[in-house]
Amino acid sequence: MEKSFHVIRILTLFAILCANGAFGISEKPMMKAVVAHEYGAPEVLKIEAVTRPEPKDDEALVRVIASGVNPADPLTLGGKFAKEWGTHLPLIPGYEIAGIVERTGANVTSLKAGDAVYGYPTFGGGWAEYVTVKEWEVAPKPKSLSFAEAAAVPMGALTAWQALVDVARLHEGQTILIHGGSGGVGSFAIQIAKMRGARVIATASTANQDLLKQLGADVAIDYTKQKFEEIAKDVDCVLDPVGKDTLARSYAVMKKGGIILTLVARPDPEELEKHEIRAEGIWVKPNAKDLSEIGQLIDAGKIKPIVTQIRPLSEAIAAEQQAETHHTRGKVVLRIADEPKN
Ligand SMILES: NC(=O)c1ccc[n+]([C@@H]2O[C@H](COP(=O)([O-])OP(=O)(O)OC[C@H]3O[C@@H](n4cnc5c(N)ncnc54)[C@H](OP(=O)(O)O)[C@@H]3O)[C@@H](O)[C@H]2O)c1
Repeated sequence: MEKSFHVIRILTLFAILCANGAFGISEKPMMKAVVAHEYGAPEVLKIEAVTRPEPKDDEALVRVIASGVNPADPLTLGGKFAKEWGTHLPLIPGYEIAGIVERTGANVTSLKAGDAVYGYPTFGGGWAEYVTVKEWEVAPKPKSLSFAEAAAVPMGALTAWQALVDVARLHEGQTILIHGGSGGVGSFAIQIAKMRGARVIATASTANQDLLKQLGADVAIDYTKQKFEEIAKDVDCVLDPVGKDTLARSYAVMKKGGIILTLVARPDPEELEKHEIRAEGIWVKPNAKDLSEIGQLIDAGKIKPIVTQIRPLSEAIAAEQQAETHHTRGKVVLRIADEPKN
């Protein structure tokens, strides 16, 4: 009796030590992730083994295959908007993911293990082998895309969709001026505007004039060689992801009653009044319904992502530096795991 009591005590002690990570055996599964322990430049990012997140009752755990890179990643990393964006250290960047649902919380009804999904986790975390998402942050991955291509869609396409469709209600017969037409947002905006029957004038630098045309722009303007206001006149809508001087010069090209959609800068109320136009600041939100609709359009061949580079996770710093330039053609994607076979 005394001997078996002794054995139980030893086994209990062993279990406690294991749970606390002794002998290198831990109860908590680990994963590889890109992590920042301090705010700063891309160089603060490190690849580390961290504890895999646990899905809450209203969340799913997704095994990430690929993750998109956005100008929002270096902004988050800089820490300037930590309070407004709800970010905290240590932080894992990554607002766009495509992957496979590993497991779901007790209250999740629309997702199940094995589902291929793509989406926008509100607080990032996508540059990791696993991320937890809410049901409303993801939708079925478009079947016609690889995971790497699907990871290039969520943030840019949602921003363009919410601006042009939900806010501006762009329609046939209207003309839209899309600045930055070759970027993550602009490349979707051109395609969505064309799909809605609008006439599209788009701007980009010399190297991206071919892309503007390929995406369907009726008029492509090289902003390094020509002032857009010499060509664009009486437009119904402007999408401005650039700000500064570009926003300031855009008021005068608009029709009375037109709408200017700004992604980065605050419009000048005096200019709006003077030109009798209105403005809306766009703040993209994850939305499963929008992502489903966008996914269906992709599978129908109506819109497509432009993937300019697929880089390994080990090149996360270089990818972040590229995002900071604001001169990315389409989208850079980080490969986290191999594409599943089927
Ligand atoms: N408010 C929101 O909800 C929201 C959502 C998404 C993104 N954003 C912001 O919107 C901006 C654009 O995002 P993104 O993902 O499209 O960025 P991106 O992929 O870096 O693309 C930026 C594009 O702008 C073009 N560009 C740069 N300077 C220009 C100029 N002076 N005139 C015309 N085009 C110019 C670049 O073309 P060239 O390389 O040819 O110069 C590039 O294709 C970023 O600042 C991002 O943070 C805001």
